[in-house]
Amino acid sequence: MRAAIIGTGYVGLPTGTGFAELGNDVVCIDKLTEKIDMLNDGKITIFEEGLEELYQKNRRAGRLKFSSDIAQIEGADVVIIAVGTPTHPVTKEADLSCLFEAAEELAVYLKKYTVVALKSTVPVCTGAEVERIISKKNPSADFDLVSIPEFLREGFAVYDFFNPDRIVIGTDSARAIAVLNRLYAPFSPKTPILITTRNSAELIKYASNAFLAMKILYINEISNFCEKCGAKIEEVAKGMGLDSRIGSKFLKPGPGYGGSCFPKDTLALTKMAKRYNVSLHLTDTAIEKNEERKLDMAHRIADIMGAQSATAAILGLTYKSGTDDVRQSPAIDICKELLRLGISLRVYDPKGMQNAEEQLKDQVYYAADPYDAAANADALVILTEWDEFAELDFNRIRDLMQSAKIVDFRNILNSRQVEGFLYHRLGCGVHPCSLVNS
Ligand code: UGA
Repeated sequence: MRAAIIGTGYVGLPTGTGFAELGNDVVCIDKLTEKIDMLNDGKITIFEEGLEELYQKNRRAGRLKFSSDIAQIEGADVVIIAVGTPTHPVTKEADLSCLFEAAEELAVYLKKYTVVALKSTVPVCTGAEVERIISKKNPSADFDLVSIPEFLREGFAVYDFFNPDRIVIGTDSARAIAVLNRLYAPFSPKTPILITTRNSAELIKYASNAFLAMKILYINEISNFCEKCGAKIEEVAKGMGLDSRIGSKFLKPGPGYGGSCFPKDTLALTKMAKRYNVSLHLTDTAIEKNEERKLDMAHRIADIMGAQSATAAILGLTYKSGTDDVRQSPAIDICKELLRLGISLRVYDPKGMQNAEEQLKDQVYYAADPYDAAANADALVILTEWDEFAELDFNRIRDLMQSAKIVDFRNILNSRQVEGFLYHRLGCGVHPCSLVNS
C-alpha cells in the first residue's frame, strides 16, 4: 500500500519506518527542510533503539522516502498525521495549530479516495474539526477522517510498533475500516483490532495516558508511606502486581513522571473535560502531586547533603532511560530547584547532554562521564535508570567523592554496590513497628 506520514518526530519517523518495513511504500513529510535534508542524506534525526538500522535498510530499498513537499501525499491510500500537539502556553490545552495547518495544506492533494488518519494525540471532536477543514478547502475530496491513536513509548518505539497491545481504529466508515484492515493485516490475528467511534478512539488515548500517570503517582505515594512504616516498595509493588487486575507494569517508584506525553496529556484531558463541565478530580490531583513530587525530591537531596554550598553529582537527565529526550524531565526540574537552593551541580547523561544543555545552560558543569561527575562531589544522585549507572565501579566513585553519599531515586543499586556509602533509596522503610504502635 502507499502511505504518507506527516510529521517526522518521535511518532512519525518510527511509524513511517515500521510501515515501510512491512512492505508498504512510505513517504514521510515534514516542514522542517533541514530535518528532511538530513534524512535524505542518510542521517537519522532521533535516537530510538533499533530505528536506524530499519531506516537505512528501507531507505536503501526505496520503500522509505522523505520530502518537505506536502504534494507528495497525492496517490497515497492512507495519510497519517503525526504532528505535535504541544501544550498551548496560555490555555494549557493541546495546541492544534500545526495539525489544522497540515489538514488545510493536504486537502487539495486528495485526488482519489484516501483515508486520512489522525495519530497525533488530539482532544475529542478534533477529528470532526479536521474533517470540516478538509471538506471546506476541497469540497470534492473523497476521504474518511479516522482516529488511530498511538501508544508507542519513547525508547521502545520500534518494539512497540511491531508488538502493540492493541490497535484502535475510530471510524464508522466501512470503506476506511477495509483500507486500515489491509494496512494492519500483518498484526492480525495476534493483536486485537478495536473498532470504535472516532470520539471514543480520541478519548482512549488520553484516558490511557492519564491512568498510567495516576498509577505512577499512586505507587510513589505508597513508596512514601513505605518509608515511614517500615515496608519495602519493591515487595509491596510485586505483591500488588501479581494480581492480574492490577498488573505489574508502571509500579516503579521514581522522581515523578515526565516526558512529552504524560504531563501534556493529563493537562489537556482535564482542560478538555472542563469544557464539558466535567471535573476529573483524580487527574487534577495527579498533575498537582507530580509537580510537588519533583520539588520534594530536590529538597530531600538538599537535606541529605546538609551544607548549602555543597556539590551534587547528577547521573541522568533524560525523563527515562533509552531516550535523549529531556522534555518535562523530572531530572531537569530537580536540577533547577537544587540550583535555586544554592547547590552546585556536576551532571552526566549518556544520551541527553546536548538537549539538557539547552535547559540548564551554563549553570552546571557538564561531566565527561560518571566518574568526572563524581569528582569531589558531596552526593551522587541517580535520577534516570540507565543500565550503565548500575555497572559503575563504586569503589572508584567513593575514592573520588568528597563525601560518600548516594541518593538513588530509581532504586537501581543493590546493597553490595553501596557498601561504605550513606545510601538513600525510595520506599525503603527503616522505622521499627514499635514507633507506629507507641
Ligand atoms: C507514554 C505511554 O507509555 C505510551 O503508551 C504513549 O504512546 C506515549 O506516552 C505517548 O503518548 O506518546 P512515554 O512518554 O514514552 O510513553 O514514556 P513512559 O515509558 O510511559 O514513561 C513516562 C514517565 O513515567 C517517565 O518519566 C518514567 O520514568 C515514568 N515511570 C514509568 C515511572 O516513574 N514509573 C513507572 O513504573 C513507569
